[in-house]
Amino acid sequence: MIVLGIETSCDETAAAVVGDDRRILSNVVASQIATHRPFGGVVPEIAARAHLGQIDAVIRAALAEAGVGVGDLDAVAAAAGPGLIGGVLVGVTAAKAIAAARGIPFVAVNHLAGHALTARLTDGVPFPFLLLLTSGGHCQTLIVKGPEDYVRLGTTIDDAAGEAFDKTAKMIGLPYPGGPEIERHAAGGDPRRFPLPRPMKGAPGCDFSFSGLKTAVRHTLDKLPGPPSPADVADLCAAIQAAITDSLCARLKPALAAFRAACPEGRHLVVAGGVAANRHLRAALAAQAEKSGLAFVAPPLPLCTDNGAMIAWAGLERLRHLGHGDPLDFKPRPRWPLDGDAPKARGAGVKA
Ligand code: KG4
Ligand code: ZN
Repeated sequence: MIVLGIETSCDETAAAVVGDDRRILSNVVASQIATHRPFGGVVPEIAARAHLGQIDAVIRAALAEAGVGVGDLDAVAAAAGPGLIGGVLVGVTAAKAIAAARGIPFVAVNHLAGHALTARLTDGVPFPFLLLLTSGGHCQTLIVKGPEDYVRLGTTIDDAAGEAFDKTAKMIGLPYPGGPEIERHAAGGDPRRFPLPRPMKGAPGCDFSFSGLKTAVRHTLDKLPGPPSPADVADLCAAIQAAITDSLCARLKPALAAFRAACPEGRHLVVAGGVAANRHLRAALAAQAEKSGLAFVAPPLPLCTDNGAMIAWAGLERLRHLGHGDPLDFKPRPRWPLDGDAPKARGAGVKA
């Protein structure tokens, strides 16, 4: 079986063809980063229009690179939420049109399931596994028991980790997206020069918080005698990267204990989402997994940030699980938690 996967929920227009034998036949990503950069973040209306302009060419490129035609596809999957609804509509409508025209199943994929199941595409990781899902919009720990079966252990009560990277980078004057910029500048920096907090370290439960870190970076910048020098930027970036990494690892500890208690047969710690591309974080998580006696799996860097391959794969898993596709009147969902039963987290600006 081969499936076309379409991703348009944020600022990448992406399409890929993936086989049920875990082969990625193509993976085309058209980034809108340059379009949004002057605004310091993603502008939803501009994103939706840019997806509309790119989608046909991206799908055509994905098919051509895979060496297949529309007639060879067995199903077509699209990220149907959560995300910026204008963009989601573009991908979902394209997928529904192809499915209707060819008489093949349409699969509505949860974007977060795309991230969550990537480790099964790349490494064949068996269920259950513990997942740290950390992107621009989400920061959660989940027990993944099946393609449609998630138990959320913790979530952020304010900002996501990627958001913390992006917002602190903006304060320093670095371009969007901030995560890769901070990683690059941190390389020559001293993480100890500017002390930054590790929000919620040691607090009960598994939730995350990053807004205090933002405030601390603001104060650190205000205390400098002038605009930050290149050395200041390097040291501050190293401090931010260390603080976010330490916070994620500290909050993972109770989640690891909960996973061990709930699923003693579980053998894997998986990280996914855009922030999983950070090498400093990957190294820290690998060490923590080893200490806990778990194998650590992180997708290759291009499969951490948004892409069509993860949507095609999650589509295959959902199709196998349901035994059929989704109805063509499936309504895209701006909010679509992986664990619908999880209690609402407390705090301002809480993410699902
Ligand atoms: O998963 P993703 O591509 O989009 C969302 O679904 O949010 O994640 C994007 C986020 C951005 O906040 C970006 O700054 C962050 O991932 N990111 C990184 C790195 N690469 C991307 N954060 C830290 N280090 C990186 N190397
Ligand atoms: Zn994402």
